[in-house]
Amino acid sequence: MKLRSTVNILTTSRAIFFIIFLIIILASKSTYSYPTGVSGYTKKSGTVGCGNCHGSANTSVKVEITGPASLKTGETGTYAVTITGGAGSAVGVDIASSNGTLVNADNNLKVLNGELTQPSRKAFSGGKYVFNFKYTAPSTIGAQTLYATGVSSKPDWNFAPNFAVNIVNTTDVTEGKSQMVGTYSLNQNYPNPFNPSTKISYSLAVGSIVKLIIYNSIGQNIATLVDGFQEPGNHEINFNGSKLSAGIYLCSIEAKPVDGGESFKFIRKMSLLK
Ligand code: HEC
Repeated sequence: MKLRSTVNILTTSRAIFFIIFLIIILASKSTYSYPTGVSGYTKKSGTVGCGNCHGSANTSVKVEITGPASLKTGETGTYAVTITGGAGSAVGVDIASSNGTLVNADNNLKVLNGELTQPSRKAFSGGKYVFNFKYTAPSTIGAQTLYATGVSSKPDWNFAPNFAVNIVNTTDVTEGKSQMVGTYSLNQNYPNPFNPSTKISYSLAVGSIVKLIIYNSIGQNIATLVDGFQEPGNHEINFNGSKLSAGIYLCSIEAKPVDGGESFKFIRKMSLLK
């Protein structure tokens, strides 16, 4: 009997401790999250936004991401999220990226689960608030996305339009700008956007060892279209994307002149519609 009641007391006190423990966890979770920063509320994670607790999105709130649209692999760029409109007396933000690293470059932000958010309620006046941050590109080439959701005083909030950052090879020039070495060139594929096939044309100044590769947006090799020696002059090749899913693809050329000159490298963005 005695033993049993001791056991009972032990189990009961354990249960009580467990309940208190749960309450502490739940309480710390709710004070931890709001308004001292949130993560998982951008379009990367879904369409709820801050709406779980702040109500539906308010289109009078404008949230905008600005910064370089192209970075080299591993390069760090300076970006900003600007919030205007809404009641505009206490702002907050959640910034996420599809890949790469978000860097806290502003005392008004902190890192939370790989995302950036306000560490406390940011009171302000003046109708416009800017959160500065940095973004370090991943080591793979391809298209990445920056996402943001901003609050301009409870309950006013809105999503920023997604911001595309094209990650290019450290040795490659930025996509789109015309780059010529002698008469080397890689032309924009035609048609573009395409479905399902498109023509890729390029010219070689001298006989070259050519590598023409199609990568997907996360830098995986989808197709090696040319790999070997080609004569100087104009070349054209058909690319069929019927087995691929819709999206952005990168056409990359590397031509190494057999006369020992400098290699020509260039990337073009192509967009496959379905
Ligand atoms: C799970 C509920 C919840 C979610 C989701 C949420 N919040 Fe909040 N937020 C709150 C609550 C509750 C308050 C009010 C707290 C208070 O009055 O001190 C608040 C207040 C704020 C404030 C202070 C506003 C003011 O007028 O004082 C900011 C800034 C803020 N949230 C930012 C955000 C951002 C940015 C998001 C989305 C990216 C977000 N919150 C998502 C619950 C939430």
